[in-house]
Amino acid sequence: MGKIIVNGGTPLKGSVRIHGAKNAVLPILAATVMAEGVHIIHNCPNFSDVYITSEILKSLGAKVTRQGSDLIIDTRGEMGSVIPEELMRKLRSSVIFMGAVLARNNYAKISTPGGCELGPRPIDLHLKTLTQLGADICEKNGYLICKTKGLTGKTIHLDFPSVGATENIMLAAAKAKGETIISNAAREPEICDLAQFLNNMGACVQGAGTSTIKIIGKKELKPTEYAVMPDRIVAATYLCAAAATGGEITVTDVNPEHISAVLSVLEDCGCDLLSEKDSVHITAPKKLIAPNGIKTMPYPGFPTDAQSLFLAMLCTAQGTSIITETIFESRFKPAAELRRMGAKINLDGRVAVVCGVEKLSGTKIFASDLRGGASLVIAALAAEGTSEIYTPEYIDRGYENFEENLKMLGADIVRLR
Ligand code: UD1
Repeated sequence: MGKIIVNGGTPLKGSVRIHGAKNAVLPILAATVMAEGVHIIHNCPNFSDVYITSEILKSLGAKVTRQGSDLIIDTRGEMGSVIPEELMRKLRSSVIFMGAVLARNNYAKISTPGGCELGPRPIDLHLKTLTQLGADICEKNGYLICKTKGLTGKTIHLDFPSVGATENIMLAAAKAKGETIISNAAREPEICDLAQFLNNMGACVQGAGTSTIKIIGKKELKPTEYAVMPDRIVAATYLCAAAATGGEITVTDVNPEHISAVLSVLEDCGCDLLSEKDSVHITAPKKLIAPNGIKTMPYPGFPTDAQSLFLAMLCTAQGTSIITETIFESRFKPAAELRRMGAKINLDGRVAVVCGVEKLSGTKIFASDLRGGASLVIAALAAEGTSEIYTPEYIDRGYENFEENLKMLGADIVRLR
């Protein structure tokens, strides 16, 4: 069984470059299915979620080659419509292929998706909205079978600004007949990145980044070359690690606007921040101060993906922090492990009350989801003594060279495989 070993207590110092965004690259890779030809995707991070997505593309008949941080995807010729169950189960966001494959072949067969353990993660909005665009979807033997005689643009209101559902509609609508309007659309930067990619392919997507997106369907799309946006949650991870250890680092190749909600809370905690065009420099105080309260919200609110990072960081802040999770109900999983390190966290449904303690102490802890796993590393970096973090595969889903980068910042960290 692999593990990460951390000897905590060293303030992080130095500079780290942020890689391409997981949540942007996955829908972009799915979108390549929609245009026959050779696509080149730059700044494509190399970790397991991207690898599984590449395997899904290959299973559909694409040729996928990696050259450094570029992925070259050749979607010429016939492409299949069936995604094998074992791949679908490994990645919840694979549901995004439904819109893309349907747009290409008017048929898609996928098993119900898997992914991180964050409580019930229904896909009702995906199914409802694709049906509104003219898909006929039924469930048979654990598979979703989607057929259409041709998708047609519609005005669609999302009951909740779901990121994945917004993306699925954008994909399906990009080649549909006529005009689609999405109201109450998700506004996350990754939505804008997908819109930009689709537009590079010749699609017509307007208004991404606002809550109303208009898509005028095009019969044909063409292959393209595109550089994926930086990963705002990875940037938040290194900033929290620096803050938790009383360090001083610079994250580069990041868009500070994408993390303004995160930066605002870090400032409340007593950190000094200097944002430039594509970098953020943080100087943390010796002791963080508990912020006024954190409540996760759809973008531009505080991101749920950064919630557990702050949960870990605030365990040793001065005062009491109140964190409210409004997006995913099982996102406090790291709390139990953090308590084993000496944290004082009380959970009441979707609210965590964190009473800052002087120090955490290293012990054996288990990661159980991607960001929760990263949060345990943050806690271990700040703790006294040695921590062993088990099931690090969760962290591998969305961080490239995580231990290497932290080591470069001065952390005493090693991965045993
Ligand atoms: C995406 C991100 C994930 C992030 C989340 C919220 C990817 C690959 N993942 O996930 O990292 O935490 O956005 O910012 O981009 N919901 C429904 N029915 C649906 C769809 C969603 O009830 O059909 C609910 C979910 O259970 C959840 C909430 O809506 O409570 C948000 O989900 P959504 O925005 O869709 O997140 P994902 O696209 O799954």
